[in-house]
Amino acid sequence: MHNDIPDLPLNNGNRIPQLGLGVFQVDNAKDTKDSIKWALAAGYRHIDTAAYYGNEQWVGEAIRESDVKREDVFVTSKLWNSVRGYDETKQAFQESLDRLGFDYLDMFLIHWPAPGYLESWRAMEDLYKEGKIKNIGVSNFNQKQMDDILANGTIKPVVDQIETHPYLQQDEMHAYLESKGILHEAWSPLGGGSNNALTDPVISELAAAHDVSAAQIILRWHVQREEIVIPKSIHEARVQQNRDIFAFGLDEDEMKAIADLDAGKRVGPDPDDAAWLKQSQSYSGRK
Ligand code: A2P
Repeated sequence: MHNDIPDLPLNNGNRIPQLGLGVFQVDNAKDTKDSIKWALAAGYRHIDTAAYYGNEQWVGEAIRESDVKREDVFVTSKLWNSVRGYDETKQAFQESLDRLGFDYLDMFLIHWPAPGYLESWRAMEDLYKEGKIKNIGVSNFNQKQMDDILANGTIKPVVDQIETHPYLQQDEMHAYLESKGILHEAWSPLGGGSNNALTDPVISELAAAHDVSAAQIILRWHVQREEIVIPKSIHEARVQQNRDIFAFGLDEDEMKAIADLDAGKRVGPDPDDAAWLKQSQSYSGRK
């Protein structure tokens, strides 16, 4: 069995590496640059950042300092909730690009469906048409919010990046996105921090049976469900291990055993929480 990272087709004819490195909560230059360098050396060609993470500058530097060419890496960033409006969105995109030190972005997402997202989407459509963003999408949109984009926009988002892990499997959302030709991208694929599925006995048993780690079992489960995954780690061995998930497979019974763990348990905010969305517009993550 090969161990290459597959590319998945997007609804606009472009492709995205199914596995990427996430850098949420990587809040200093050393960890950001180290984790990206380890990832690129291990064969990752996809990095997921956001304006809110405050690390775009180090993401750009890490790629420039590596042996990998800019055009060979798929880089995603996101528009924070405090930025809404057509001109404001275009300006914030340019600021992300400047911090990254890039002249185009592979993918730009609306980070959360905070009020005013339709105007922002219109600006992103224009940036896409101008070729400054190769792919546009959204994050944390539920069905109603996605229907709003589909009804009022002219370009279909290529992905919806949503919280997904064994304790929050998002089956209904997955089926909905599939029916629209939009890829499901999983954030917090391991379940995030302390409240994670890494110590679940069912996962541990599967890990022992396959002689891999619990994280590899969970990431393998995601990729077999046709999701894009962007695990974060600031440890070299974990960055390498998280990449090695394409040379083994889970059978139907094993996939079912993980499916049975779904508990509808979030680690992050609910996109249906209008009060949180509004409040988040006053947060600024950037330094
Ligand atoms: P660390 O950066 O210290 O390795 P998620 O992406 O689901 O939010 O989960 C990320 C969390 O899981 C982080 O706290 C990360 O910590 C940890 N993590 C990432 N990869 C692994 C792994 N292979 N084994 C154990 N923990 C991991």
